[in-house]
Order: sequence, then structure tokens, then C-alpha cells
Amino acid sequence: MVRRIFIAGNWKMNLTLAASLELAKGLKEQLAGIRDVDVAVCPPSIYVQQVAASLKDSNIGVGAQNVYHQAKGAFTGEISTGMLLDVGVRYVILGHSERRHILHETNEDVNLKTLAALASGLTPIVCVGELLSEREAGTTEMVVREQFEGSFANVSADDMKRCVIAYEPVWAIGTGKVATPDQAEEVHFSIRNLIEKKYGKEIAESVRIQYGGSVNDENAKEILAKPNVDGALVGGASLKVESFVKIVKSA
Ligand code: PGA
Repeated sequence: MVRRIFIAGNWKMNLTLAASLELAKGLKEQLAGIRDVDVAVCPPSIYVQQVAASLKDSNIGVGAQNVYHQAKGAFTGEISTGMLLDVGVRYVILGHSERRHILHETNEDVNLKTLAALASGLTPIVCVGELLSEREAGTTEMVVREQFEGSFANVSADDMKRCVIAYEPVWAIGTGKVATPDQAEEVHFSIRNLIEKKYGKEIAESVRIQYGGSVNDENAKEILAKPNVDGALVGGASLKVESFVKIVKSA
């Protein structure tokens, strides 16, 4: 089975509205001919509506960086899946390490959000990854397994097919310290095995597993060449048209 490569840009809490629209415009122009790679950008929630509108007739999808699991009601400050869909969002990043470690999201939180996203029709991009101390203690595989099991609890086989997983070693995010292609491949391989054990081979082969953590236009090609790396979740290097376009083209 051929998995399509999926490159997503995580803009985090960067860029102004004007800069977001400028970036979207540049990407729309420069990626217009790209058909065999899926591409999405994930602006801050407050800008998703305008960015999605500006990318309406393009091959670039729009994702949010978070969502709340409840559909509606008294949840001050939160945004629902329906609200995201309403303004043209198709993907949502869940369980990003910054949300797990700075905002204290647990696997249970990520699981509720994953189930809500799937029920709504959004495609969840669920992040997993170990801290440096966990890698040094030799517990990477265990940490990733627990995050996988917790985040995907009660996800049906049909829904699992629609999920994207991002392996993002926390020590590589925003640090310029990228995992070697072999380090990435090793964890991606073990994630694919976890999917296979729970859902079978066919589904394991269809789920896209992105690598994230200091991906840039120089290292992307080598990482993406690994058999179990099906894409990239790009932070810093997705904030400039030129570098993000180069990453997409290297895929
Ligand atoms: P980075 O961020 O590419 O800046 O390391 C990746 C991410 O956090 O998704």
C-alpha cells in the first residue's frame, strides 16, 4: 500500500494575522502544482477562519492546534470541533508536547479530544514523544506505548484508519537537535507495530506517522526517506514560505 506523505506546519503562537495571511498566500502560490503530497497549515485558532478562507481554492488544508472535547455549553475559553468545522478546518493537532508538558494535558484528555475529533469528522494528528531524560533512561518505547494506548483508547478500527500520528521527541522540538533518521525510524517502526497489534496489518500500513522536531529544508529529505516516516510536523521551518515549500518539495 502506498501511503501519501503528509506535511503539516504548526505555527504555534507565532505570527500576526497579517503575517499569517501573507504566509498562506505565498504557500498557495508556490505549492499550487503539488498533487501527490498532502499539505496543511495549523495557524493559531483565532486566525484559522481567515487563513482557511484564504486557502479555500487551494490544495492546502487547514488544521487547528487544539480543540475541546465537549460539543457545546459552559466551557469558557474553549473551542469545539463543530466550531472548527464551521470555519473550514479539517485537521486538529492533539497532545502536542507543549500541551502535555506546559498545559498538563494527560493521555485521558488527549483521548477524549481524539474521540471527539473523530466523531465530528476532523482528522486528528495525535502527538507522542519522550523527554530527553526518558530517552536517556532507555524508556522511550515504554513512554510512547503508554501515550499511544492512552490517546487511542476506545478508537475503533475504522476510525484509526483516519488518524495521523506525529512522533515528536520532546528534546528535538524547537531545539535544532533533530533525531537522526535511524532514531526516528526506530520509533516509527515500533509505533506501527503497536497499531498492528491492536488493529491488524492493513490498518497499521494505512496510518500515516509523521516525524516532528527541528525538521528543516536540509534534513527533511533524509528523514522522509525512511520507510516508516510518512510525513513531517514542522514548527519553526513552517513559518517561512521558502523553507516550508522546500520541505514539501523534498517529500
Ligand atoms: P519544530 O516544532 O519544528 O520547531 O521543532 C515541531 C513541533 O513542535 O510540532
